[in-house]
Amino acid sequence: MEVYLAPLQGLTDWIFRESFYEHIGRFDKTFAPFIRVQNGEFYHPSQCNDILPEHNTFQKPVPQFLGNDIDSFQRFEELCLKHQYTEVNINMGCPFIKVVSKEMGAGMLAYPDKVADLLEKIFATTNLTVSIKCRLGQEHSEEFKSLIPVFNDFPIEEMIIHPRVARQMYKGEVHYEAFARYASELKHPICYNGDIVSLADVEKIQALSPQVTRIMIGRGILQNPFLLAEIKGQGLSREARINRLRGFHGSLIERCKEKYSGDTNLLRRLVELWEYHAQGFEDGRKIFKQVKKCNTLAKYEEVIFKAINELK
Ligand SMILES: Cc1cc2nc3c(=O)[nH]c(=O)nc-3n(C[C@H](O)[C@H](O)[C@H](O)COP(=O)(O)O)c2cc1C
Repeated sequence: MEVYLAPLQGLTDWIFRESFYEHIGRFDKTFAPFIRVQNGEFYHPSQCNDILPEHNTFQKPVPQFLGNDIDSFQRFEELCLKHQYTEVNINMGCPFIKVVSKEMGAGMLAYPDKVADLLEKIFATTNLTVSIKCRLGQEHSEEFKSLIPVFNDFPIEEMIIHPRVARQMYKGEVHYEAFARYASELKHPICYNGDIVSLADVEKIQALSPQVTRIMIGRGILQNPFLLAEIKGQGLSREARINRLRGFHGSLIERCKEKYSGDTNLLRRLVELWEYHAQGFEDGRKIFKQVKKCNTLAKYEEVIFKAINELK
């Protein structure tokens, strides 16, 4: 099974990806959080910093485009080529209203003709390998039916599918059966994404769709960074896990010091990670409460390294 790291804006940035590679393990591919481009302009130019070569020394991520017009894609392509990227991903899954209302992200899925038009223009000119990350629709999973012939018309590298619809955000039922049906109707390699937190979840996908040999994991990795090793069949002793986790958090802190000035900004970034990460600890709720209360880096280090040393 190939295992990919999901893009999580504000969480799986270069700081996370570099620290993870250094201390925990290597994904088959990583994906950088989206870079939004609108009317040919970067919406938040600082988003481009995440894919700078000097920030991605161990493994180059696949940069992700969030936009819906060819001028914007070409602006994004220019940036990616400048940094020697050869593969990119198009976001057709972002469920946030401010994105969806602009017919971007999952908002594009309601307009198969527009998807076709954009892909037509992209594939007519691009020098990049292009994959797509999408949901099953905006309101209902049946919306995907009319997208299948559109996607099948283009040489898409792979389709990464999170089988929810935009209305659900990141919660509620995952449409497993619909995923299995649609996966077999698409001609591209398919990667499954959504709610994988254990080996049993991976086995469930394998049983459901035996032809799927790629999975993407986001929150499950934040919760249990060693899930990657478990899937790859690499057992780790408690001592090894503690040592790796200590190294990983040490690196996160060092890289955050490079990026943020002052404890407040740095702690805000790290606390966000613990919202998910603490769930992997037996007394996670208590730990997360303690982490949120920290008002200095020194206090934060005391709390988290104590929790890691006591890991079961
Ligand atoms: C905080 C947060 C930020 C996200 N940012 C992105 C993003 O930048 N691009 C993207 O394609 N998906 C993004 N996603 C969706 C994830 O990549 C993934 O599809 C989703 O979390 C389901 O997978 P999981 O259950 O393994 O986390 C984000 C999700 C969350 C919770």
